[in-house]
Amino acid sequence: MKKLIAMLMAGCMIFLMAGCGQSQSAASNQTAAASAPAQETAAAQESAPAEEPAPESKGTFLIGMSQCNIGEPWRVAMNAQIAAAAEKYPEFEVVFSDAAQDNSKQIADVENFIVQQVDLLIISPNEAAPLTAVVKKAYDAGIPVIVLDRRVEGDAYTSFIGGDNVLIGRKAGEYVAKNYPDGAKVVEIKGLEGATPQKERADGFREGLGGNDKIEIIYSQSCDWLRDKAITVMEAALQANDEIDVVYGHNDPAAVGAYLAAKNAGREGEMIFIGIDGLPTPDGGIQEVLNGTMAVTYVYPTGGEEAIDAAYRLLVNGETLEKEVILDTIEITIENAKEMMERFGG
Ligand code: FRU
Repeated sequence: MKKLIAMLMAGCMIFLMAGCGQSQSAASNQTAAASAPAQETAAAQESAPAEEPAPESKGTFLIGMSQCNIGEPWRVAMNAQIAAAAEKYPEFEVVFSDAAQDNSKQIADVENFIVQQVDLLIISPNEAAPLTAVVKKAYDAGIPVIVLDRRVEGDAYTSFIGGDNVLIGRKAGEYVAKNYPDGAKVVEIKGLEGATPQKERADGFREGLGGNDKIEIIYSQSCDWLRDKAITVMEAALQANDEIDVVYGHNDPAAVGAYLAAKNAGREGEMIFIGIDGLPTPDGGIQEVLNGTMAVTYVYPTGGEEAIDAAYRLLVNGETLEKEVILDTIEITIENAKEMMERFGG
């Protein structure tokens, strides 16, 4: 419970406009929505013979949310957004699990949700291939499954909701192509190898460079999405290369970790840093752009609120969900960072 309250508070802070604005009206919705089933129950009880058990209260749905890791701020924001969105719907109870970046743990978490017979599973899978079978198992058992942000293989799920990672990568590539027409030496600090955004962000970036062969990717290593590991990877890149113009981090922690390593070596002024996520928090990507640490970042929406809204449409309204829902991004540079911080940061 304490954890839930903490997450709700974080959600309000982070998504002041979207989250807290909604929770105000959610409070009044809640009263209205909660009283409806109660009235139905009372009416049914009146007409039922006295010895019959009271009818089960309708409209209570248990949602299992299998998170791959909560060690990163972006995932904490995703969970907070889910919790805040679920607050709007008194029919929903959400149970969170954290796989701590461990595929076997996440498989076990989903197995648990299947045993608990959750009414719906939301999963943000650590890596695609290892999680595919257990997601299919849940889906085949009749549990609707919403896959968030990272994909699984095949199509045994109800709906996928997430950002367009190829597009984001392409935009980052185009940014480099536009700002370095005479060429650049690029270090790429990638995400976790088996996670689909890693490959999509790498492929999109190369597309965005547009075949400008004066732009060279001189070093490309994975930091598994983690800032501390990005520091180590960047230290090696700095050692091996006297000239680096651009660091492309597959997420903001990768870019910030690389910046810290370059700063330690007294070389941060020689290069620019590009990230992805663009959280509007005090230590998030938008603030890093305002601080001048990163030249650019791309908002990668968590999809948490959209997942809960989709769950509502499916479970409560009985609607059929779209198989794919692709969310927009925004390029954040020093030109618009202040405005975006004001709009999303609260
Ligand atoms: C958090 C994270 C984000 C990134 C996303 C990709 O785990 O690494 O920083 O944008 O996952 O799935």
